[in-house]
Amino acid sequence: MSDIPDKLALVGYGRMGRLIEQLAPSHGFAVALRLDEFNNPDGVGLTPENFDGINVAVDFSIPEVVADNAVRLAELGVPLAIGTTGWLDQLDRVREAVERNDSAVVYGANFSIGVNAFYRVVEAASKALAAQREYDAFMYEAHHKYKKDAPSGTALRLLDAMREAGYSRPVDVATQRSGQFPGIHEIGFDSEADTIRVSHAARNRSGFAHGALKAARWIMDRKGVFEFSRIWDRLD
Ligand SMILES: NC(=O)c1ccc[n+]([C@@H]2O[C@H](COP(=O)([O-])OP(=O)(O)OC[C@H]3O[C@@H](n4cnc5c(N)ncnc54)[C@H](OP(=O)(O)O)[C@@H]3O)[C@@H](O)[C@H]2O)c1
Repeated sequence: MSDIPDKLALVGYGRMGRLIEQLAPSHGFAVALRLDEFNNPDGVGLTPENFDGINVAVDFSIPEVVADNAVRLAELGVPLAIGTTGWLDQLDRVREAVERNDSAVVYGANFSIGVNAFYRVVEAASKALAAQREYDAFMYEAHHKYKKDAPSGTALRLLDAMREAGYSRPVDVATQRSGQFPGIHEIGFDSEADTIRVSHAARNRSGFAHGALKAARWIMDRKGVFEFSRIWDRLD
């Protein structure tokens, strides 16, 4: 990291955007641009003038706008870390724009290192129980009342991890939206004889914000589209 901070743009200036702004200096970044629903309706803030000199952007906005934001930033050649969830049905469109413009995106439903390690715990449990048909699987996730998508992006990523590990039976998923929970995910396996539970509980949002800033630094030197759970253990 050089002594001169790299210039960071925040797309989305809500709970996560504001926390990333606080932590940015400790990762060698200076926040040079903040876009929100007032100065970026329909992506009007994503201009060459606004992004002149910006080294990287981080998007923690809303599912409805993130894919359009990402396409426009790819056209501007700005590397991007996307933390927003609930938009992966538009991943192909974003990938096409990134590849066409030789730009870069890293996206992740969860930038916490602990959750990314937890994916591996769940994969191992799912693999061990894939052939043990007496075990049924269940998932529970809880978040604060403001979270817009359900099940969470992390829950969907966990379901993918279970499938990839060979667990092909149904997984009953329960979600809760109330209070201030920053994020709880629990996977369980239940049989007549016993229950296995593995869980991750975020204590606050700092793990997400530090992970997003590490992802932003990593993507600055790359080209292409990357999913955070595939690269997190290669970060500094
Ligand atoms: N990957 C991770 O580790 C991680 C961790 C935590 C959260 N998340 C996800 O990150 C997203 C943001 O979470 P949050 O808690 O920060 O939500 P938030 O507090 O609601 O912040 C989102 C902000 O984006 C603004 N926005 C709306 N339209 C915009 C536009 N066109 N351009 C730029 N900004 C716009 C919203 O304004 P309005 O509210 O006025 O619409 C709001 O201020 C969610 O999808 C959440 O699930 C991911």
